[in-house]
Amino acid sequence: MILITGGAGFIGSHMCVALAEAGHRFLILDNFSNSARDVVGRIGALVGRAPLVAEGDVRDEALLDRLLAEHPVEAAIHFAGLKAVGESVREPLRYYRENIDGALALVAALGRAGVRRLVFSSSATVYAPTPAMPLDETAPLRATNPYGWTKLMIEQMLHDVARSDPAWSIACLRYFNPVGAHESGTLGEEPQGVPNNLAPYVAQVAAGQRPRLQVFGGDYPTPDGTGVRDYIHVMDLAEGHIAALRHLAGHAGVHTFNLGTGRGTSVLDLVRSFEAASGRPVPYDIVPRREGDVGECWADPARARDVLGWTARRGIAQMCADAWRWQQHRATLPS
Ligand code: WQD
Repeated sequence: MILITGGAGFIGSHMCVALAEAGHRFLILDNFSNSARDVVGRIGALVGRAPLVAEGDVRDEALLDRLLAEHPVEAAIHFAGLKAVGESVREPLRYYRENIDGALALVAALGRAGVRRLVFSSSATVYAPTPAMPLDETAPLRATNPYGWTKLMIEQMLHDVARSDPAWSIACLRYFNPVGAHESGTLGEEPQGVPNNLAPYVAQVAAGQRPRLQVFGGDYPTPDGTGVRDYIHVMDLAEGHIAALRHLAGHAGVHTFNLGTGRGTSVLDLVRSFEAASGRPVPYDIVPRREGDVGECWADPARARDVLGWTARRGIAQMCADAWRWQQHRATLPS
């Protein structure tokens, strides 16, 4: 059985479906602070049985000890945590408290229970800003915001734990830009309030929920002047976790992988793809750059290909089509 912290969230919920498809049983731990409870039922409808769910905070070590004593957990995937870059700048202590305490509590509880296989949800924000693209796993590390620093500090803690006890097998997966939704249209990203990220904002403009998109900067040194990112389908991301879990079964130590497509897509490229997928216009205005943004960021995913045998399979058109299907279905759900 696989323990999934944050298993009702955007990535976590898709992870549940991918685990079921790969024949794994799973246990969701979620405090529902950033996820809707009805996701659990929608996961159940896709996997064909009611998921095992524990409501609670990953920082609650007594709860973790009880769950690990009651269930035959063989590995954990750790998604639970705060993930908004801008919010982390405004509320750094909350981010350090929640993200780092959560990881420390989980690793301590796993150690007590004798469970030493862990996949950690890291991020490309651990990489130092650089014009040298694509980024491989040896690129310089220096976060530029508290959210990124929490990810980098947790990676460091995991290396130190593995050095202290060679029984640990740990994967740090550095996500680039997860987008899209399960092809059924019944799972997807459910940002609360105004979306920080591009893809959900574009989807809401296409759906008529917001009048126009603000494109943050049209003067970057990129082909069309707008920001370029490595958007990866959330199901490709989930399948990368399955491949990492499989790799850990035979390899001790810490193993770090970029999960990206290796392809850069500009803001305007994504807008055009979404208009094609939805058949709806996405009006936009080019406005000044967003503070803290870099012009380009995309992955060299060769190591995941060579070591895990994993490559992202879904392109931008499918990401937009799946995201649009979810956007339309989401509008039918009780708010
Ligand atoms: C993408 C591009 C923006 C919104 C962040 C985190 C990263 C990860 C993914 C957690 C950029 C532009 C955006 C908008 C825009 N999250 N944009 N108008 O900043 O690459 O990455 O989310 O792990 O850690 O840093 O993603 O979607 O915010 O921006 O023009 O309304 O879209 O400038 O070029 P980002 P994003």
